[in-house]
Amino acid sequence: MRPETLLTIYELKVPDPRSRDLLDQADLKGLLGESLAGFHWEADFAFLFCLAPLSLDPLHARIPGLELQTTHLLRYDEWQDGAAATPLYIGPLAILPWREGAGEPALAPRERASLGGYPQQLPPLYIDPGLAFGYGGHPTTKACLSFLSRLFCPQSPAIPLTALDLGSGTGVLSLAAARLGALKVLGVDHSHLAAENANFNARLNNLDSQVAFVRGSAADYARAPGELVMANIPLFVHWELLALKAYSGRKYLILSGLLPREAEKLLEGLAESLSFSVLDSHRDERWSSYLVAVTGERL
Ligand SMILES: C[S@@+](CC[C@H](N)C(=O)[O-])C[C@H]1O[C@@H](n2cnc3c(N)ncnc32)[C@H](O)[C@@H]1O
Repeated sequence: MRPETLLTIYELKVPDPRSRDLLDQADLKGLLGESLAGFHWEADFAFLFCLAPLSLDPLHARIPGLELQTTHLLRYDEWQDGAAATPLYIGPLAILPWREGAGEPALAPRERASLGGYPQQLPPLYIDPGLAFGYGGHPTTKACLSFLSRLFCPQSPAIPLTALDLGSGTGVLSLAAARLGALKVLGVDHSHLAAENANFNARLNNLDSQVAFVRGSAADYARAPGELVMANIPLFVHWELLALKAYSGRKYLILSGLLPREAEKLLEGLAESLSFSVLDSHRDERWSSYLVAVTGERL
């Protein structure tokens, strides 16, 4: 999307969980047309990102009780807050923003103390963030990327061959795992626009034979194969996944998207069904993220 693209953003209050499910399952482009470009949840609010103003009547007819709270007009680069324009270097990974019409950005010269045990920098990953979360610059995503570069390091004792990315957004974690050496990766996101955007990014990087993205609820893919599970998602989804044994039978877990106190509680919950060691963790004033090696299952 070009930086100057004007977005019309509708903020809708969703009255109850049933309406939320209906909205999740609706073919929103079919209902609202091709100018719908993105869809996000924040708590009980749904945000529709559109390339032109449109009528929400078909949506109101399908899902009664939706309340339009506000309509914002915002340029795409304002929405991205400039973050998408910044290349990101983590260990051997170079993650570069891909811009429609702007061609491939050149690799920025960079000074880096170390490649974290890798012999060389890997070919860059181009990520078109579209309107999905996230380009890679969010602190939770950055923490996950640094865990991945540690896990796949050539000196690592057991590199995972397969990975499952629950809440995949733009696909940045899945694509980074594949770039680092995972042979097969499945990404799942309940937003079909995120899944579409992530599949676009897989093709952009010629990784579509290794990495696939599907639209679906993380819970529905809780038992999908993957030696590594990456889950950068809200706490309540982690709990749902824990109850469904999504974290059992794995070698490694990357758990993120958590406030520090939430993360501690989740690890306590995890300890009831698994034994594990924390290989790495990252905490800032807002977020906590963990890289965990599973060492056994409790019966
Ligand atoms: C914090 S973003 C992480 C995106 C990406 N993995 C990253 O690290 O940058 C969380 C993503 O999970 C998705 N998500 C949230 N709850 C979900 C659920 N129950 N099932 C599937 N996807 C979900 C959201 O649509 C969003 O794209």
